[in-house]
Amino acid sequence: QVMDQFLGLHETERQLSQVLGIEHCLIVSGNSDEQPKVLTEMGKLVNSTLQLLLPQGQSVVAVMGGTTMAKAAHELSTDLSKQRNLIFVPARGGIGESVDIQANAVCAEMAKQTGGKHRALYVPEQVSEKTYAPLLEEPSVQEVLKLIERSRGVLHSIGEAITMAERREMPVETIKMLKEKRAVGEAFGYFFNQQGEVVYKIPRIGLQIRDLLNIPCVLAVAGGASKAQAIQAYMHLAPKQTWLITDEGVANSILQGA
Ligand code: G3H
Repeated sequence: QVMDQFLGLHETERQLSQVLGIEHCLIVSGNSDEQPKVLTEMGKLVNSTLQLLLPQGQSVVAVMGGTTMAKAAHELSTDLSKQRNLIFVPARGGIGESVDIQANAVCAEMAKQTGGKHRALYVPEQVSEKTYAPLLEEPSVQEVLKLIERSRGVLHSIGEAITMAERREMPVETIKMLKEKRAVGEAFGYFFNQQGEVVYKIPRIGLQIRDLLNIPCVLAVAGGASKAQAIQAYMHLAPKQTWLITDEGVANSILQGA
């Protein structure tokens, strides 16, 4: 019976990849909306998938923030460093999260867990575009931007548009606009509708979605049935080599609608 469940899950993974138009999906049992432990299991899969896909030698990994990434960071292991010199860098400048789940904090934790290095991108959260622009000229910022350009791996999550906009305390008018334009999801600070059309982008430096095309190891990590629509929408934008690490809550919700 265990074998049946195993094969069943593999078949579901195959179907989900097909529906989403990407090469691989990995599904953990359960629904992380209801069982936080599921996120830990997803984190373990992040570790094993990085082991499989991340090139050896010098390997820069660009990382986004959020609660999923913060949780996944704890599951990375020193095994990843055996054939690699890992450097974790924030993928984009601040997009308005609280300190403990900012990409800088996630990178520091990933470096700690793997015995690798990390760099922080010191650009403040929640500043206006005008204040932000001159900061980009700073040599320390430029150095991290160069590392981001060289990244061989990307780790990111996907969020529900309005939930993310509210959590990051975006201006009320922006949230209103996102609702009017029917934004359903958010990733990398891009907000998009159900068709995957970008309706708004937080103007920040660092990795852009189009840059993902040339990166061999791109892992999207997102679980919980509540994120199903956002994940499905993002996959219109995602490069085909993306591996989605998700849970049954998401898979069932997407496949029932397919
Ligand atoms: O871009 C998506 C968000 O970072 C997801 O945040 O992992 O806390 O749901 P979360």
